[in-house]
Amino acid sequence: MNILKINDTSNKLYYVGGVVRDELLGIESLDVDITYVGNAIDFVKNNDFNDGQFEILQINEPFGTVRILFDGQEVDIASTRSEIYEKKGHLPTVTKIGCSLKEDVLRRDFTVNALAKSIATGEIVDYVGGVEDLKNKKLRILHDKSFIDDPTRILRGLKFSVRFGFELEENTKNLQEKYLKNINHDMCYKRVKKELIETFNLNSQAAFEKFINEKIYKLVCEKNVELPNENIENLVKKYIISSGKNPQNIWLVYVGVLGDLSKLPLTKNEQKILNDFSSIPEFKSDFEIYKTFEKMSVETILLYWILKDKKIAQKYLDKLFKIKIEINGNDLVKMGLKPSKKFGEIFDYILEKKIETPTLTKNDEIKLVRDII
Ligand code: CTP
Repeated sequence: MNILKINDTSNKLYYVGGVVRDELLGIESLDVDITYVGNAIDFVKNNDFNDGQFEILQINEPFGTVRILFDGQEVDIASTRSEIYEKKGHLPTVTKIGCSLKEDVLRRDFTVNALAKSIATGEIVDYVGGVEDLKNKKLRILHDKSFIDDPTRILRGLKFSVRFGFELEENTKNLQEKYLKNINHDMCYKRVKKELIETFNLNSQAAFEKFINEKIYKLVCEKNVELPNENIENLVKKYIISSGKNPQNIWLVYVGVLGDLSKLPLTKNEQKILNDFSSIPEFKSDFEIYKTFEKMSVETILLYWILKDKKIAQKYLDKLFKIKIEINGNDLVKMGLKPSKKFGEIFDYILEKKIETPTLTKNDEIKLVRDII
């Protein structure tokens, strides 16, 4: 856990959720969540926190949260709150700010994420058997309607199972299956997308196999999908991670396999990755492969590999894309040509020849240009 030097004289501040889980697992936390039993905004405004040695950065009244700058770090302090899911699958409505700690943890997703640790005393507060489930590596929801309230919990379960090597507990697994069989697609897809990104950017074939085999993909797409033969994790490792390319859209190589992502709010760039895939023509030559893939992202090419033609995609990624012509505009000018659109046609002609014979030298290229001008 990030060490925060908090002297809590109120005895009402608790670490909650992931940070407590991670400390018990002995791993570094991605973020630190702190909850105040009562109204955190009033608590902070009254300077009760840390003898007033902090700065308020942001206040979110409806959710009762406040962000402060303290000891050089930004820290979110939440009020204990209870919520109801008035519209299933969408953001909950806050019903009470300043409820008991027990009520606050009961609104959460899994028992292992419903643990609290007193900042004043270090005592672990476990109302739901989270410590036992952590020991047994089990993900257990807190009540039978949990997935109906918030279906993103199904993806969160998948994400945590991959990150920590946990399994769904039996009843949780049955309720997940039941939900996915009777799925109601009226849900907040912005949250679904966030969880898909966090899950699949981990680049895990095991997660993808669960996603397909346990029909979790039904959250996103209504048609039936089979598990492709390719090991996507290995492809991503070789062509995105090892080659130092931007890894932020790895998730689309996995989720793009579903074919229809129309439910997700995609950015222009994400939509382009998928649209490019749909626009790929039948290829008649290596030159065509080169010219088509040259303009596309590696995610699109990997989707083509997985869903259409492995040999063609592999030929481009392993061989063709390394081919570059050596002559440039200056060389053509030196040969007496005036810069014009014709330059592009000449470069394409040389490229076509170089794809046929990659051993061509710069002198060979110049000879070829001479032959045609
Ligand atoms: N939570 C929840 N249901 C959700 C999202 C969050 O109950 N759909 C609760 C969980 O108690 C969770 C906490 O809010 O522990 C914080 O959420 P988040 O930061 O998304 O997850 P962490 O558990 O902190 O895990 P991570 O390590 O990914 O940050």
